[in-house]
Amino acid sequence: MDDLIKQAAEDLASASKVTALTGAGISTESGIPPFRGKGGLWERYDPMEIAHIDALMKDPAKVWNILVKEMKVDTANPNDGHRGLAKLEKMGKLKTVITQNVDGLHQAAGNTDVIEFHGTFAWLRCMDCSRKYETREVDISQIPPRCICGGILRPDAVFFGEMIPQDALWRSRQVASDCDLMLVVGTSAVVQPAALMPIVAKESGAKVVEINPEKTPLTDEISDYLIMGAAGDVMNQIIEKLEQIS
Ligand code: OAD
Repeated sequence: MDDLIKQAAEDLASASKVTALTGAGISTESGIPPFRGKGGLWERYDPMEIAHIDALMKDPAKVWNILVKEMKVDTANPNDGHRGLAKLEKMGKLKTVITQNVDGLHQAAGNTDVIEFHGTFAWLRCMDCSRKYETREVDISQIPPRCICGGILRPDAVFFGEMIPQDALWRSRQVASDCDLMLVVGTSAVVQPAALMPIVAKESGAKVVEINPEKTPLTDEISDYLIMGAAGDVMNQIIEKLEQIS
């Protein structure tokens, strides 16, 4: 692993336009469970019962109860993985984070250009009149939370069966095709179209570097290399090396 850490630091030192694609794995060290794999939400819940738009329409209170219990929308804090990416931005390396996460932890860590590919839990939207509210201003212990019009509020996030917001999709493709290195951190890379972004980056000539304790479908096909480990620990080691050589 030491060789790969050194390699990643050297690759970052010579890169000038780095993009990161992140997934639930980067937030596990903040206490938010991933979806797949050990301890993942899909071990305990059927995704179609809580993450599909039809489930939300049919029984919003049931979906809200699980979201509040599991997603720690208002209590989680950034960890070293998020902080490492924010440091890379400060060092002038990283421009944009494309995240599939809805927890806002990249912004909380200090990244300023974050594309929220699957929307956000920081905002709620009325299912009747589309009025928007900041989640922290709403009493989400009242389930389901309601709009002043009486309609039910939903997270401003993408559920299965819904489209990716056009601007997020468009900008992600753009930054993926324009970067010279893509860091792919903590994603199983099985959900489309997010998982296409490393392929777009690779086809445009960028290096693709994965950080994940497990292999993914990208590992043998697309990634230049995989650094096997937890995002926080690996990011700390990479930044330390990068600071030594740059
Ligand atoms: P997944 O839960 O599918 O994958 C999490 C990944 O993080 C796995 O590959 C783990 O091996 C890895 N991982 C676990 N702990 C880690 C750590 N400490 N450091 C680094 N990696 C770690 O999450 P996503 O790929 O984000 O979409 O899932 C994609 C989408 O599927 C989500 O955005 C969500 C879900 O359904 C929607 O709800 C629309």
